[in-house]
Amino acid sequence: MRKDQIFKWDTLNLGTCYYPEHWDRSLWEDDMKRMLDAGIKTVRIAEFAWNKFEPSEGCFTYDFFDEFLDAAKRLGMKVIFSTPSATPPAWLTEKYPEVLNARMDGVLYRHGMRRHYNYNSPKYRELVSRIVDKIGGHYAGHPAVIGWQIDNELNCETSDFYSESDTTAFRSFLKNRYGTLDSLNQVWGTVFWNQTYTDWEEIHVPRTTIHNSTNPHEVLDYIRFISDSAVSFCRMQSDILRKYVKPGDFITTNGMFGRLDNHRMTDEALDVYTYDSYPNFAYCLSADPKEPGNLNDRWWSMNLTQTRSICPHFGIMEQQSGANGWNTRMEAPAPKPGQLTLWAMQSIAHGADYVSFFRWRTCIMGTEIYWHGILDYDNRDNRKLAEVKELSRRLPAIQAVTGSEYKASFGVLRDYDNEWDSDVDVWHSRLIRSSENEIFKASQLSHSPMDFVYLLDDTDVNELCRYPVLFYPHPLILTQKRADLLKQYVENGGTLVIGARTGQKDITGKCVMEPMPGLLRDLTGSSVREYTFIGPADDPQTMTWGAEQLSTGIFSDILDPDAPDAEVLAVYDRDFYQGSAALVKRDCGKGKVLHFGGTFTFDNVVQFLKYTQALSPWEDLVCLPENCEIAVRVKDQKQYLFVLNYSWNAQKICLKKSVRDMDSGLAATGEVELPPFGTRVYEI
Ligand code: GAL
Repeated sequence: MRKDQIFKWDTLNLGTCYYPEHWDRSLWEDDMKRMLDAGIKTVRIAEFAWNKFEPSEGCFTYDFFDEFLDAAKRLGMKVIFSTPSATPPAWLTEKYPEVLNARMDGVLYRHGMRRHYNYNSPKYRELVSRIVDKIGGHYAGHPAVIGWQIDNELNCETSDFYSESDTTAFRSFLKNRYGTLDSLNQVWGTVFWNQTYTDWEEIHVPRTTIHNSTNPHEVLDYIRFISDSAVSFCRMQSDILRKYVKPGDFITTNGMFGRLDNHRMTDEALDVYTYDSYPNFAYCLSADPKEPGNLNDRWWSMNLTQTRSICPHFGIMEQQSGANGWNTRMEAPAPKPGQLTLWAMQSIAHGADYVSFFRWRTCIMGTEIYWHGILDYDNRDNRKLAEVKELSRRLPAIQAVTGSEYKASFGVLRDYDNEWDSDVDVWHSRLIRSSENEIFKASQLSHSPMDFVYLLDDTDVNELCRYPVLFYPHPLILTQKRADLLKQYVENGGTLVIGARTGQKDITGKCVMEPMPGLLRDLTGSSVREYTFIGPADDPQTMTWGAEQLSTGIFSDILDPDAPDAEVLAVYDRDFYQGSAALVKRDCGKGKVLHFGGTFTFDNVVQFLKYTQALSPWEDLVCLPENCEIAVRVKDQKQYLFVLNYSWNAQKICLKKSVRDMDSGLAATGEVELPPFGTRVYEI
């Protein structure tokens, strides 16, 4: 999907997830009337309802959802219809157990939960194609239908697939990729520990091994294969739906999970991307939710940042509206007054133009009886519904932001080879997780908005040049193409910041016999002399950079400036490499590259942002406390400033210039107090 072909909502609008099959028909009309009254104009339905269309093999029936769609049309409710492939029926898995996914030891995942199928079973593909064709053919023309969701949360629950069909498909994937066994053996380095393959039939998806630490180069390809399988499964469905979808209606899928090239999937199969946002999950991640530095629900902005990299104008298919938990796990408390609205505004601030709450009413049966929706079991109006209503009344005042673009002051580069290598290589994952989290936290707390930018096959230099500063924290894997692109970016005036371990590996995940940063060495004019992990017994390492002493994180690449014009900006302060270079700068063309030997930490990121002039770009306009997030969306020369208060207390901000408060329509300047969880949108 080219960016200019993305489906765009023409107004900010609200929806909810509804399950007609969970409720007595007598509730449908009343539910929809109450939704419409609360400003909810769209429902997403049917993603787990295969039995309602095909109660037994080959017998198709449409009455149930016909009746629902007719009621929706009568009332003026719009519908996003879903394909039901996330939950195959019992009759299907019983008759065709080969459609099931398996554990690594080969035991099949049985009926009773969800997402228990595999993407590669020819039988499942045949049966899914048939049901998608049937329901697409039957329902897509209905006037209430405005869009389609494929499956539900591809790769959620598990992103590991070990069925027999996966092994067969993995072999084809590898034959296609490598042609011969000799080449595969070479790429996987199978000479190590005598793993050489002599027949394609000897190759399987990873199986139980001691410590389950199968050959890392094989596992890297296995992850690429999983992504490929999910994308082709999604594309298979969208190709079928395309035959029927009305002009103007869209095809999407929801959620964002690992081991899946979401950019490629969106490009090849979707019109728009939708994400499922549950900020309360983050409370489970924070040691102390009251500690001001802990971002808690604000961490979710990192996922929204990633979502935006896939699709700048996205939707939220499931927006948290209540406490979450299953009957098998307890997650987080009910949103406090104002918090439901805050989370919806968080999504909008990051680029969502459609926000659909999960779910209308809390389910009274099954695993998710504790995953609360807007309404509780008793079905009475409550404060969550009142908040949704209030939000819907507010949206017309901020409509102008629809379709505007998020404005970042710097970017963080990612690519799928490195993302997946960090799934296999624990050194890589420790570095990248910690650096990305610290960069994000520094960006949030210093009010310097950031984007993630993925290096994809077709990324061109102009996309990179939108960012004056790009961090590429730890690209262990480098390719010539990406190195060339980065060089162009720098020559064109960009500032590139790279961290420890850059350029250690090639595309197969094998280490290169070159000094790091490998393919970027010509650009940086520097190299890594030696390196060390900072062990638990070591004192934390720091570097002196001008007048500042700053932490260098959990790893030290000890650098040498090689080129005459490479300038040492900072040196390490301790240990056997005291005085050696920690940071080398080199100007190149109109830009510069900063080669840093450490990992990124809050304090060093702030210094990098200061040095590169990407820190706090809005400070002339607004000063605000750490626990408020700012986001700016831009359209047609107009800028919209969101201020989101995540704190449980009121917070004061100070507007240094006169701006227009979009809610009141009045000019605002000077001190403004936001209530706990309060949000403001200003036109500037
Ligand atoms: C999502 C999923 C929904 C529901 C919700 C709450 O991940 O798409 O179907 O399960 O979480 O658990």
